Amino acid sequence: KLILDTLDSQSTIKDTRELTIPGESSPATSHESQITILGALNSLLSRDMITYETHEIFSYALTAEGSQIAKEGSHEARVWSALPLKGQGKPVTPVELKKQVGDETAKVGQGRAFKNGWIAKEADGLVKVADTIKDATKLELSEIESTGDLKAGEKVLADLRKRKLVVQRKGQWFTVHKGISFSTSTAKPETDLTADMLTSGAWKTSPFKKYNFDAEGIPPSGGALHPLLKVREEIRTIFLEMGFAEMPTASFVESAFWCFDSLFVPQQHPARELQDTFYISDPPASLTPPKAYYERVSTVHEKGGYGSTGHRAPWSDEESKKLLLRTHTTASSAQMLYKLAARCRGEDIDDDSNEFTHGARPTTSHGDADMEDDGFRPAKLFSIDRVFRNETMDATHLAEFHQVEGVVADRGLTLADLIGFMRVFFKKMGLEQVRFKPAYNPYTEPSLEIFAFHPYLQKWVEIGNSGMFRPEMLEPMGFPKDVRVHGWGIGLERPTMIRYGMTNIRALLGHKVSIENVENSPAVMF
Ligand code: PHE
Repeated sequence: KLILDTLDSQSTIKDTRELTIPGESSPATSHESQITILGALNSLLSRDMITYETHEIFSYALTAEGSQIAKEGSHEARVWSALPLKGQGKPVTPVELKKQVGDETAKVGQGRAFKNGWIAKEADGLVKVADTIKDATKLELSEIESTGDLKAGEKVLADLRKRKLVVQRKGQWFTVHKGISFSTSTAKPETDLTADMLTSGAWKTSPFKKYNFDAEGIPPSGGALHPLLKVREEIRTIFLEMGFAEMPTASFVESAFWCFDSLFVPQQHPARELQDTFYISDPPASLTPPKAYYERVSTVHEKGGYGSTGHRAPWSDEESKKLLLRTHTTASSAQMLYKLAARCRGEDIDDDSNEFTHGARPTTSHGDADMEDDGFRPAKLFSIDRVFRNETMDATHLAEFHQVEGVVADRGLTLADLIGFMRVFFKKMGLEQVRFKPAYNPYTEPSLEIFAFHPYLQKWVEIGNSGMFRPEMLEPMGFPKDVRVHGWGIGLERPTMIRYGMTNIRALLGHKVSIENVENSPAVMF
């Protein structure tokens, strides 16, 4: 208020040391007063009500020893006063002097008093030879104590600092100007957008406090890194060291087209039913997928093609455009593979802009460098993110969990490449005992279920699913016939449970996790 009112009448404040803080008797010259003013300036600055410039000054303050000297006199003066004037009394022996003024003062003071010509030796003791003295050190220190400075100048100050009687203090003062939102009103701007402001419309006109991006924030009162995050980071590191690039997986909501149709999952497949998938009712339909691709996908479903008979069941646009919570991250992989095949479809793609492919030169499984460039570039991609399934929850199932997914695209890959790759990968994860079992999966053929031995449950548990993506999925995207893509997906939760010796998934994730326990534990424990 003081700053705003002063600005209102004077338009600038040249020197904030001239302000007098309400309730104080003298102007704000002290360091502490300027700190108080600075707090107010920053708060006004954040509301654009003022601008200010900072000026630095140095001031001087006494140390504990310095204050004692300012009060009681210098060591040499104290020595001098303890002695009788020459010829007027019994000289004081060094031992007696120590007793009277103390060891330190006697030691330091004697030398200086001699040097100043204040005292002399007589017989086996000491006497005064000057009948009056000027205690310069005391006078200098008193001046510094009251004004923060010394008229005698730098050299004397430097000497006093060397003697550890004085310290230098950096001080600040400020010049203040009106800001673009200057007003004399001290009404505080809003710090929160509330539901009331939204309903009343007050948010349109309310002044809001600017974000302070330098604020340190409130330190958390407890908590520790969650095991899922730790294992996720480990898995991500393994992928990265094996040369994989991470896919974007930000969209939890996908269309049935990308989640199922593009993968050649029949529209009548049970996985797509309400009891397995969470559908979204609003908005009612997805955006339209790329037109030509959409046609090829619907045709391969309904009538077949690329050597396949198709599903021979009627195709529904409505079914394809349904929105849902993605049931697997393969919905993202499908979109990345479609993007990877862009050049094979003859679309103009800038090599450098496609960060997911490996190298600009075409490769073949036979190292045939002369082969014509059909646009294909091999790729190794991975993702780790959340998926949703309408499951009955029990000790090993949740409706919301994380999938780890890896996809490799190259010419002439085989099932042996897939198995070999997974063995290396799981070994790096510490899962030495893994087994693969033939399985059915609508978008891969052949398909393999992945099992790992759970040391606590003492049995084999299914951890994932893998396979070679079907030509009915890859060829409509535009991949050449010799390009093979293998993929696998595992849950993040089960390997984490095996790692941490847990038997109940509900202790790891979901509404049954004890928040109190997490907050109070220095480390996550189960
Ligand atoms: N999407 C499969 C699942 O949800 C995992 C998978 C990914 C299988 C890629 C094959 C290829 O279990």
